[in-house]
Amino acid sequence: MISSSSRLHVTRAEFERFRLLLEREGGLALDPARQSVLHAGLAARMDARRLSAVDDYARLLTDAPEGRAEIRALLQEVTVGETQWFRYRAQFDVLTRHLIPDLVKARGADRRLAVWSAGCSTGEEPYSIAMALLESLPQPETWAVTILATDLHRGSLARAERGWYPARSLRGVPAAWRERYFLSEQDGYRVRDRVKRLVRFAPHNLARDPFGLPDMRDVHLLWCRNVTIYFTPAATARIIAQFAQALGEGGYLFLGHAETLWGVSTAFAPVVFPEAVVYRKASAAPAGLRAARPSLSLLPTAQEPRRQDAAAQCGLASSLADAGRHEEAIRLLQDIVRTDALSANAHYLLGLLYHKTGRRPAALHAFERARYLEPLQPLVYLALAIVHLDGGEAAQAQQQLRQALTVLDEWPDAAPVPWCEELRCRELRVACRQHLGQLASDPAALRP
Ligand SMILES: C[S@@+](CC[C@H](N)C(=O)[O-])C[C@H]1O[C@@H](n2cnc3c(N)ncnc32)[C@H](O)[C@@H]1O
Repeated sequence: MISSSSRLHVTRAEFERFRLLLEREGGLALDPARQSVLHAGLAARMDARRLSAVDDYARLLTDAPEGRAEIRALLQEVTVGETQWFRYRAQFDVLTRHLIPDLVKARGADRRLAVWSAGCSTGEEPYSIAMALLESLPQPETWAVTILATDLHRGSLARAERGWYPARSLRGVPAAWRERYFLSEQDGYRVRDRVKRLVRFAPHNLARDPFGLPDMRDVHLLWCRNVTIYFTPAATARIIAQFAQALGEGGYLFLGHAETLWGVSTAFAPVVFPEAVVYRKASAAPAGLRAARPSLSLLPTAQEPRRQDAAAQCGLASSLADAGRHEEAIRLLQDIVRTDALSANAHYLLGLLYHKTGRRPAALHAFERARYLEPLQPLVYLALAIVHLDGGEAAQAQQQLRQALTVLDEWPDAAPVPWCEELRCRELRVACRQHLGQLASDPAALRP
C-alpha cells in the first residue's frame, strides 16, 4: 500500500492505473518522485465528489460524459500553475532587442504578428508579451497583433480573462510599466484594455487536442515555458513536432530554463543571443541533408565514453573548487556540459559554484537543469531551496524542501546520499525538516 499524510490509501495497482490515465490524457510523467502529487490530487477530487473508495472514483472516470469532465478536473488538480510577470527577463530582452527589430524589418509590409503562449496559466506570460510588444513595436496600434493564450486549466483561464492581480504579484514589474499598462483596483491591479485586446484565451490540451485553432498556423513567436518539463519524453516530442508545424518559416520557440530540445527534435536550431538562448525553426532542408543529422538511436552508444569522462572530470572540478580555484573549476565544468549536456552532476556542481560566486540566475538555471536530468536526486532540491532562500522566496524554498523530503522517502536512513557519499540520507532529511520548521515559524529568519 502507498500512503501519504492524508488518510487515503491507494494500492500500487491503482496508482499505476491513474498514472497511465494521466499520461494518456495530459502527457504527464508522474514518476515516483511525483507520486505524492497524484496522491494529493486524488484525495482532493475524491473529497470534492464526496467519495471514500478509490474504486468508486475510478468507476466515475469511465462514466460518459461526467467521466471526461472529472478527468479534466483531476488533470487540473495535478498540474503545476506557478508563473510570474516577465519570468526569465533575459528572454524578454532577446524579444525586444533582437527579434522585434528583425520582425519589423521582415514584416513591415503586412504588419501582422502572431504569437502563441501555450500553457499560459493565469495570464501573466501572454500579458507580459503583449506589454513588451507595445513597448517595442513602432506605432504598435498600426500592427495586427494576435496573442493566442491556451491552457488546459479552465480556472486559470478564467482568472487570466478577468485580468486582475494582487499587488504583491506585480513586484517584478517596473513602476513605469505598472503605471502604463495597469489600473489600480481593489488592493490590486487590473490589466488595461489596450493590453487585453491583444490576447485571446482558449482552452487547449497540448497532449490530446488537435492543433486546429486558426491562430495555431503561421505563428511567429511561440512560448511554451515550464510546461513540457512535467511531460513524458514521448509526449514532449509529439508536442514539439506539432509546434514546428504551427510556426511559420524561421519562427521562434521560447522554452523554460530546464527544458531542452536536445534529443527531442531536430526541427529547431538554438540561437545564442548575449542574453539568452531561443530556438528557431530550421528551414526545410533537402532530404539528403536531413538524413545526415545524428539519429536518436545512435546517441546512447555515442554518449557512453563521454559519460565516464564526465564523471572523472567532475571529480577534478570538485578538487579545484575545494582548493578555492573557483573560476578554473567553473571553466572545466562549462566544458563538461558543452560536450555532455546530460551530466546532471556537472550542472549541479556548476550551480554550487555559481551560487558561491554570487551568480544567482546562473545557479538557478544550472540546478534546474540538474533537476530535469535527475529528478530523484534530493541534493538538487535542497540546493534550489537554498538559492530561493537567498532570494527571499520562502514559498518556492518550502516547495523544494518538501520535494527533497518526498524524494528522500525512497531512501533508507543509512544510505549515503548520491554525489555526496559522506552524507547519510538521515542527516539530509533532518536538515530539510529543520529548514522547513524555521521557515514555518519565521520566513524571514533564513534570509542572509
Ligand atoms: C508551471 S505553469 C507555466 C506557466 C507559464 N508558461 C510560465 O512559464 O510562467 C504550467 C502550465 O501548463 C499547463 N499545462 C499542463 N499540462 C498541460 C497540457 N497538457 N495542455 C495545456 N496546458 C497544460 C498548466 O495548467 C499550467 O498552467
